[in-house]
Amino acid sequence: MSAGAWINQALHAVARFGVADLLGHGPASADDLAARLDVQPRPLYRLLRALAGLGVFHQEPDGRFALTPLGAPLRTDAPNSVRHTLLMLGGEQYRAWASFQDAIRLGGTAFAHHHGVGVFEYYRDRPEESAIFNAAMRELSRDEDPIISHTHDFARATRVMDVGGGTGGLLSRLLADHAHLSGVLFDQPATVGLARDRGELPVDRCVLVGGDFRDTVPRGADLIVVKNTLHNWADDDVVAILRNCRAALPAGGELLVCERTIGEPNQPSFAHLLDLHMMATPGGQVRTVGEHAALLREAGLLLTGHVPTAAIDIMTASPA
Ligand SMILES: C[S@@+](CC[C@H](N)C(=O)[O-])C[C@H]1O[C@@H](n2cnc3c(N)ncnc32)[C@H](O)[C@@H]1O
Repeated sequence: MSAGAWINQALHAVARFGVADLLGHGPASADDLAARLDVQPRPLYRLLRALAGLGVFHQEPDGRFALTPLGAPLRTDAPNSVRHTLLMLGGEQYRAWASFQDAIRLGGTAFAHHHGVGVFEYYRDRPEESAIFNAAMRELSRDEDPIISHTHDFARATRVMDVGGGTGGLLSRLLADHAHLSGVLFDQPATVGLARDRGELPVDRCVLVGGDFRDTVPRGADLIVVKNTLHNWADDDVVAILRNCRAALPAGGELLVCERTIGEPNQPSFAHLLDLHMMATPGGQVRTVGEHAALLREAGLLLTGHVPTAAIDIMTASPA
């Protein structure tokens, strides 16, 4: 545990240099890789040797390194790629953790203490890091989107809006799986621009709207989805976002809140660790189902269902 950050940074370096993309063509020596990546051969050798000890690479008898099944998702084009997730977590978000104790001692976020701005302002001004963040969100969504699409009953909805829907991964999945649905993607203007550039959402069935969900949420959808977004925000902001969703919903409309939730104490839980990362970076939190119910109630919504799944919890709510 004490040395966990070393592993994160070793993996981050490998992801940054694109080592796994080169090894996708077959085993290679550290010298060969170093020449192609324009890095120092001996330090690269020691990096790969350490990660081979963790099963990420395999060192062959002739000294060359090969990609293992564990390391394969480091490739950019792997179907289960985690490269952008590592670039995001090991980059500016990792550096923010250097100020983690300030968040505990003084409040505020470690990210703002360290970088001087909030995480979303930071990305707004940095297109390259923002592209990595959005790609990481899609990687992290990969297992969640099909589960949401197949678990919830979308038959009763006609128009679904994903609020804070990123570059539209979940929405394109829902529109592909449920032919009767039309869609609205709502996110920050720059993120919506990235979604438009991807050209993935069907233009005849989907509109893309940029804005700030703390100010207003567009009307027109009878089903609103908010996934992995409320955990970015403190309670007051969450209530504001939910009130805006409530105001946008017609009578009989429904809200889907998809989030990991805090479960039983004393159990190993990714949700507990993600909660710390939310404290460190955007200043939000991972919540219990009961805490979600209370915030929904404050916003004029009633929690009507909770379906825990392997990837994410799906909570349904209706106007109270
Ligand atoms: C953690 S990401 C989740 C994205 C997506 N829902 C997913 O599950 O992958 C949070 C999203 O909220 C968006 N966001 C942040 N601040 C926003 C704001 N003030 N108004 C609208 N969207 C915002 C971000 O651009 C980002 O796409």
